[in-house]
Amino acid sequence: GAGGGVEPERPSFDQPLVVPATKRGAEIRLVMRRSRVRTLPHGRRTSMWTYDGTYPGPTIRRRGGRGTRVTVVNRLPKGAGSMSTHLHGDHHASKDDGQPTSRLIRRGSSRTYDYPLTYDGRAEPGSFFWYHDHRMDRTARNNWRGLQGMFIVTDPPTPGLRLPSGARDIPLMISERSFTPSNQLTDPFADGPSMVGHHGEMAWIGPNAPPDDATVGDTVLVNGRAAPYLGVTATRYRLRLLNSSPFSSYNLTLSDGRPLLQIGTGSGLLPRAVVRSSVLLGPAQRADVIVDFSGATGRRLVLESVPAAIGSTGADARETAVMEFRVGASAPDPSRLPSRLPSPELVSPVPATVSKTWTFGLSEGHHSSSWTINGQAFDPTRTDHRAGLGTVERWRFRNTSDLTHYVHIHAEQWRTLLRDGKAPPPWEQGLEDTWRLEPGEEVEVSARFTDYTGAFMIHCHMLDHEDHGMMARFDVVP
Ligand code: C2O
Ligand code: CU
Repeated sequence: GAGGGVEPERPSFDQPLVVPATKRGAEIRLVMRRSRVRTLPHGRRTSMWTYDGTYPGPTIRRRGGRGTRVTVVNRLPKGAGSMSTHLHGDHHASKDDGQPTSRLIRRGSSRTYDYPLTYDGRAEPGSFFWYHDHRMDRTARNNWRGLQGMFIVTDPPTPGLRLPSGARDIPLMISERSFTPSNQLTDPFADGPSMVGHHGEMAWIGPNAPPDDATVGDTVLVNGRAAPYLGVTATRYRLRLLNSSPFSSYNLTLSDGRPLLQIGTGSGLLPRAVVRSSVLLGPAQRADVIVDFSGATGRRLVLESVPAAIGSTGADARETAVMEFRVGASAPDPSRLPSRLPSPELVSPVPATVSKTWTFGLSEGHHSSSWTINGQAFDPTRTDHRAGLGTVERWRFRNTSDLTHYVHIHAEQWRTLLRDGKAPPPWEQGLEDTWRLEPGEEVEVSARFTDYTGAFMIHCHMLDHEDHGMMARFDVVP
């Protein structure tokens, strides 16, 4: 289960944080290939499957509204199979969505994905997306091996708003792995469950079948490195936090109690900055936070994950150090934060009634089991819901299992209406694409379907759950 392993001792933070190289421009090429990358501070490098030779892959940075074509080439070794690259959070056509079973990138070939970075005819708002492999049944393995990278959509300058930028705007991909004594990735999938047909439905049998499928690692990596440190000036920084772990959640906090000022989700700014003592991030969730290091000159602050006050399930946040900030001298700080932020518009009005309920559950037979949505395991040939292009839908999620799930919807960005019948907390009042869903909990969200018809996915972003049935397909129809 989650966090079941022995926690490593407090690390000594003896390697520097690496910020991935940035790629800009209208035409971007990423080559998936095996590469030896530095993950642990001592000893051998780790062989990983990468985008462009690094883990994480290059960070793509691009102004909203500027069309971007990303060509992904598959030069992975034999046995890796076909891949599919999904840009998580972005709004684009079904054919460019990195679907689990269609338009796969076969070994030796490539695929070009078109990302207009527009939303309903306007520039997409500044966002913190990420790209990762989405191949059906193989997503957990392919992400574990390293097929992950970040994608930042930037806004044009806004009068009155000067967020920390340049070297003070740092994307942090947090993801855990386990290693062999020679610094190589373990293979948690080697003795995975087998798939069986079960009343015409897929199910899993054997070791690590649902609900015991939980890929956790004993080492937390930040931008691919275990326990890194970063030297900072005693000024404000913008940290873009992403949890790209397969299963675990982190409840992130700073060791001296310094607040995290959350200004955005992964999908745009919040209407107002929210002072938070900790930020809980499940798989695929992001948070855009400002940390003010002023007054901390000479100190070392640890970004750590502490148990979350809410939730009592196997998906509760793990307890671990993440990285260290070494605070240097103060420096001029031109950043400015108004009390109201230029956050993207939320859909309004919203329908009074729910148009679709998605129930996340577990189906257990005598010999096999499956994660399900509305009682069924994923079948890419089955349409589970149809939504009309141009219409506003109101969806409800329910969790009838004993585990927390993290629900992700492709295609659109959503407004959170209700969490357990109540208004969502202030940090959930921006756009979202991934929600925490506790056992017994209900969440209601709303969005307008715009621009694109075709098939899209809704699934749990705990990758073992996604691979073992907890995904459904909806079609946007004319
Ligand atoms: Cu981050 Cu369907 O994926
Ligand atoms: Cu799940």
